[in-house]
Amino acid sequence: MSKSILITGGAGFIGSHVVQLFVEKYPDYTIVNLDALTYAGNLENLKAVEGTSNYIFEKADIQDESALKAIFAKHAITDVIHLAAESHVDRSITDPLAFVKTNVFGTVNLLNAAKEFWKDKLSDHLFYHVSTDEVYGSLHDGGFFLEDTPYDPQSPYSASKASSDHFVRAYANTYKMKTVISNCSNNYGPNHFPEKLIPLCIHNIKTNKPLPVYGRGENVRDWLFVKDHARAIDTVFHKGKEGETYNIGGFNEWKNIDIVKLLCSKMDEKLGREAGTSEKLITYVKDRAGHDLRYAIDATKIQQELGWEPSLQFEEGIEITIDWYLNNQDWLDHVTSGAYQKYYSEHYGD
Ligand code: NAD
Ligand code: DAU
Repeated sequence: MSKSILITGGAGFIGSHVVQLFVEKYPDYTIVNLDALTYAGNLENLKAVEGTSNYIFEKADIQDESALKAIFAKHAITDVIHLAAESHVDRSITDPLAFVKTNVFGTVNLLNAAKEFWKDKLSDHLFYHVSTDEVYGSLHDGGFFLEDTPYDPQSPYSASKASSDHFVRAYANTYKMKTVISNCSNNYGPNHFPEKLIPLCIHNIKTNKPLPVYGRGENVRDWLFVKDHARAIDTVFHKGKEGETYNIGGFNEWKNIDIVKLLCSKMDEKLGREAGTSEKLITYVKDRAGHDLRYAIDATKIQQELGWEPSLQFEEGIEITIDWYLNNQDWLDHVTSGAYQKYYSEHYGD
């Protein structure tokens, strides 16, 4: 069936992979990418689909009610996949309100626009909200996040995402909107903005800059290749059950310090440096305030009920990722100029 899908945040890291997958895999769908092009949005991420007949870009802010209304009407939107968000925990610590505005107010604005446009046919349309495992809080004593793990967000970012998840469920319950939510673990891969751990380290190893490891580097994250997340979103969008939540993850836990050391050794090899050279760049810095210790997703439900599983092993994904950054210097030059440099020196010092 032909659809006109509004994907928000499609110029960002994960959104760009989702847009590309949907445009290429579903030529009968019209894909409308709505993005405000904040510092994290980059149309260079979408070069592969630019000019494709089933792809449309709309520059708009999800906080702008009239813009949303016009876009729903102009493209007769049938479904929404909502990824637009402020996504960086460190930024949420310095500017929590920006996260409330986009992640909470923006999401409710989008829910309203969908509800108004779909009116009494709400059950014919899907509002898919893309969320994070951080809403479950921090694991300290083993175990995994399950879909029914109680929410316990610890940072302004995760509190804003938890709030947006609650609003989506409230719209499903109150207005009988057809919704689905997925909560994913840490993604890595091409197009990842270099304020996040993996691309920041790749960039700094390449340019011989210090590798800032927060605290003792003992915090654990569960890493998934971004294209596998995009495949999971495709699966949930088409096969997910109304009102359900699906956790997405790679069963792939790493301590931060081990990831940083792995990147150092792989890049020493690729850059023809003597083994051990890049590790000397590791610098332990002040810990993130309220730093969550460990995230780990149990992705059994999506595997068993919807048949999704990661396609790439971490070793393979990290090779692809490093090679992509080494082969896309222009992309890095563009995103590491101007505003990024200001942010970087404010956060880490010069
Ligand atoms: P990102 O920061 O790379 O991209 C966010 C995109 O949203 C950017 O293109 C930005 O321009 C756009 N945007 C921001 N504010 C907007 C606004 N007010 N109106 C319209 N567009 C706006 O983020 P990402 O890492 O790609 O994350 C995408 C989504 O996935 C987010 O909702 C995030 O919470 C979630 N998520 C991310 C991860 C991860 O590891 N990166 C893991 C799980 C879930
Ligand atoms: O778990 C999913 C979440 O993963 C997403 O919802 C977020 O949008 C995404 O940004 C990511 O959050 P994290 O805070 O886990 O990612 P980040 O890359 O910022 O940090 C990963 C770990 O590395 C974390 O424990 C903090 C640490 N870190 C990070 C940076 C930027 C450092 O030690 N040094 C750094 O310079």
